Amino acid sequence: MEKSSHRAESEQRWVSRQVAGAQVSAIKQMAILSAEVEGAASLTWGVPSFRTPGLIRNSIKQKLDQDEDIGKYTLPAGLPELRNLVVEKHYRETGVKVDANENVLITAGNMQGLSTLLHVIVDPGDEIILTDPGFASHFQQIALCGGKAVAWPLDEQQDWQLDVEVLPDLIGEKTKAIIIVSPSNPTGKIFSQEQLIRVGEFALQNNILILVDDPYSHFTYENHSRYFNLASVESLRENLVYFFTFSKAYAMSGWRLAYVILPAELKRQALKVHDANLICTPHISQVAGIAALSHPSDYISDFEQILARRRSLICERLDRLPHVFDYVKPEGAYYVFPRLVAEYNNSWDFSTRLLSEARVAVTPGSAFGDRGEGHVRMAYCVPEAMIELAFDRMEAHFGVA
Ligand SMILES: Cc1ncc(COP(=O)(O)O)c(C=O)c1O
Repeated sequence: MEKSSHRAESEQRWVSRQVAGAQVSAIKQMAILSAEVEGAASLTWGVPSFRTPGLIRNSIKQKLDQDEDIGKYTLPAGLPELRNLVVEKHYRETGVKVDANENVLITAGNMQGLSTLLHVIVDPGDEIILTDPGFASHFQQIALCGGKAVAWPLDEQQDWQLDVEVLPDLIGEKTKAIIIVSPSNPTGKIFSQEQLIRVGEFALQNNILILVDDPYSHFTYENHSRYFNLASVESLRENLVYFFTFSKAYAMSGWRLAYVILPAELKRQALKVHDANLICTPHISQVAGIAALSHPSDYISDFEQILARRRSLICERLDRLPHVFDYVKPEGAYYVFPRLVAEYNNSWDFSTRLLSEARVAVTPGSAFGDRGEGHVRMAYCVPEAMIELAFDRMEAHFGVA
């Protein structure tokens, strides 16, 4: 016993302050805890239940035999064919023409892209503004680079929309960037064009960067026409970095594939970090990306329709528990972020008790910033049967109103 605590102490001595101060994200912590509870109904992790589409899988099967180089490194920026397809996609979606050599970097997911960019721009003490509630891992990534996350508080009474009025108060000498996720994880809010344009104006006035992390723009349901991509603003192209991931829209989360559109000088700097950490995004995943972008992708709207049905279902089921949860209807992505009406100490305590007492796993809202406390996040990208099971158990646990 004594020996092992001595070992733990000396191991701790080796751990840097930045890493010691960081935590495993509560999303993963809850996923790990729920895996230990047999038969738990889990609404924790935002992994879509969809299988990677057959077109992509079949193309890879063939390429594995035909392409002699598929098991080798690529150059750090990624395969030229994929980067060219990305240029076309980006032009179709934003109307902005970028250069495959100067402005496109293929990454192993948006997490790796974001982490790379944060390493490029953050010196110790530099500040990055992000919404609160916001995506839990962004807070961690900033801290791991020695930066400071500055919370941009959003108000549930205002349906979680961006409060642009407070932005000037958050921008200081050390501000390097603002991170935007729309539709938002965890609230599902789609930020309006008007608000986003104003964010862009502040960025230009103060010469700061906007980092647009985009996993969910294909899931906007009936709000499609309200979705606005800031990367489509030509005047922002030198102040904006756009991250798109294949994880959700193409059901490729395990392939680890994404791309970054960025100004040329930043790309040159980012390549140093990317190469030092990863050399390149897995070749086989890049080939899968070529298959994804060179075939029709009607399955994305099929996914969206299925998710729309799951959203209706989870909202109906939440409506039957008004004494437990109150919520703002999510506009996009596949999360709902209800406020706790039932008695609770804090959202972590509520979530762990719900898991042990009702065998339902949700993510505590505190993982998404101070404003997230008093809420839980439910991911409805799971099959309908899982949503039904989770809510049947919660109805049995809390009773129906
Ligand atoms: C806002 C946000 N960014 C990034 C990611 C992860 O993306 P990737 O799988 O491309 O690393 C997620 C996944 O949940 C997310 O919600």
